[in-house]
Amino acid sequence: MQSLSLILLSASAATAYPWVARQPGVDSSMLSRAQPVKRQDTCPFNANHQPAAPFNSKFPYTGAQNGLPGTQVGGIKVPADGDTAHAFQAPGPNDIRGPCPGLNAAANHNFLARDGVTTFAELVDAQQNLYNVGYDLATLLATLGVALDGDIGTGKLSIGCDATSRTASLGGVLGRQPGLNGHNKFEADTSLTRNDYFLANGDNYSFNGTLFGNMKAVADRVSGGNFDRNALAAYRSQRYDESVQENPNFFFGPLSLLLFGASSFLYELFPSYGPEGVPDLATMKSFFGTSQDSNGNWQAGPEKIPANWFNRRAAYTNNDVTLEILAQYVQYPKLFGGNVGTNNFDALSTPFGIIRDGKLPDDATAGDILCLLYQLATSSVPSSLTTVTNIPLSLINWSAGKLNPNFKNAGCALAPDQTS
Ligand code: HEM
Ligand SMILES: *[C@@H]1O[C@H](CO)[C@@H](O)[C@H](O)[C@H]1NC(C)=O
Ligand SMILES: *[C@@H]1O[C@H](CO)[C@@H](O)[C@H](O)[C@H]1NC(C)=O
Ligand SMILES: *[C@@H]1O[C@H](CO)[C@@H](O)[C@H](O)[C@H]1NC(C)=O
Repeated sequence: MQSLSLILLSASAATAYPWVARQPGVDSSMLSRAQPVKRQDTCPFNANHQPAAPFNSKFPYTGAQNGLPGTQVGGIKVPADGDTAHAFQAPGPNDIRGPCPGLNAAANHNFLARDGVTTFAELVDAQQNLYNVGYDLATLLATLGVALDGDIGTGKLSIGCDATSRTASLGGVLGRQPGLNGHNKFEADTSLTRNDYFLANGDNYSFNGTLFGNMKAVADRVSGGNFDRNALAAYRSQRYDESVQENPNFFFGPLSLLLFGASSFLYELFPSYGPEGVPDLATMKSFFGTSQDSNGNWQAGPEKIPANWFNRRAAYTNNDVTLEILAQYVQYPKLFGGNVGTNNFDALSTPFGIIRDGKLPDDATAGDILCLLYQLATSSVPSSLTTVTNIPLSLINWSAGKLNPNFKNAGCALAPDQTS
């Protein structure tokens, strides 16, 4: 079966798509999307890599350091008055930025390394200290990021283009590490402000001002200009419909549920004091780094924490984010699957987790969504696939080792790891 051999060629694709290989109802052309992204010709290289600003007891934020849990107590001004180490600085030509405004802003404020080549520990600390993301969610996102797009040996990840020479322990002999721009690993179609991969010739993790304007129009129409849950649910639905109609290679797999999580960050993490604040245009402009030119076009720029900004008081946890994912999804339920041609959508026919016939069941709970995300992060690859190479096995083990401590009581079937 040609589709299966294609999957086997790429260990990383096999890890991300074990279930696609078993899809009888899915056209094999869908599998092309599982291939690693075409590399950019040039990826910025900063020879003078400096790690994120080190922990300073004068400005402790939530006290997170070394990838461990902080206090989970927020309501803290960021950057703190006098904390020059975390002052905004626009990225230079040698610095990497990518599809995630939250991480780009963190790098512009040195909560992550300014050159965009970061580590698992920096990601876990930055999310807690800057945004008061809960330790459990910070770990889940960092695990997904590093496992899907980075290096589990070094724990390093490029927040944008492929920087394998700097993220890999063995210089990339085990395969390319595409960075967060890598498509259909963590990055996916129907993004809020990024083009679909196929529609932009295999490259668009870049900010698209037209899409930002479209998102603003929906916020204006649905929620009086606020980027709240109702507005984001409506806009995500619109983006899905656009992809079905315009993108012959559109793919919307279970991992796309994460995009609803990212949408929730606009109203749960970006406003000052999080959900106590207002998810207004000024806040979005700052975090997306955009401003309107004299022609009314939204231009790309550096992502920045707004002035006089405080992170949310209560940590944003796995439970919180999965409730939001579900709350958005049920407003406009969509099929999981992909296009086999423009406006020609096939639903996934093989069950994955709780997904049946391409749908989440009506009685799906936030806990079910969380277990689905866990399952994706620990990609339970059929043993037939793991014989090709030992990468998937070690990857599962690595992810399980990171996640199992936080998932002990989540009620999910846990993947075995050698440590517990
Ligand atoms: C280790 C942690 C994280 C990783 C690895 C990560 C990675 C990503 C990636 C790959 C995307 C692109 C998804 C797509 O195709 O649309 C994305 C989107 C996004 N992320 Fe993150 N992210 C992380 C944490 C955060 C945090 C803490 C925030 C907010 C404070 C955030 C805000 C967003 C937003 C708003 C988007 C949607 C952008 C758009 O669609 O235009 N992310 N993230
Ligand atoms: C991606 O988008 C950016 C800015 O929106 C644009 O400059 C660039 O040409 C696009 N790349 C491709 C390959 O379409
Ligand atoms: C931005 O998105 C719009 C709407 O999908 C598209 O027509 C346009 O080509 C995109 N711009 C760039 C620079 O990719
Ligand atoms: C699994 O990971 C642990 C560390 O978390 C390591 O000690 C062990 O060797 C790994 N086992 C496999 C099979 O990769």
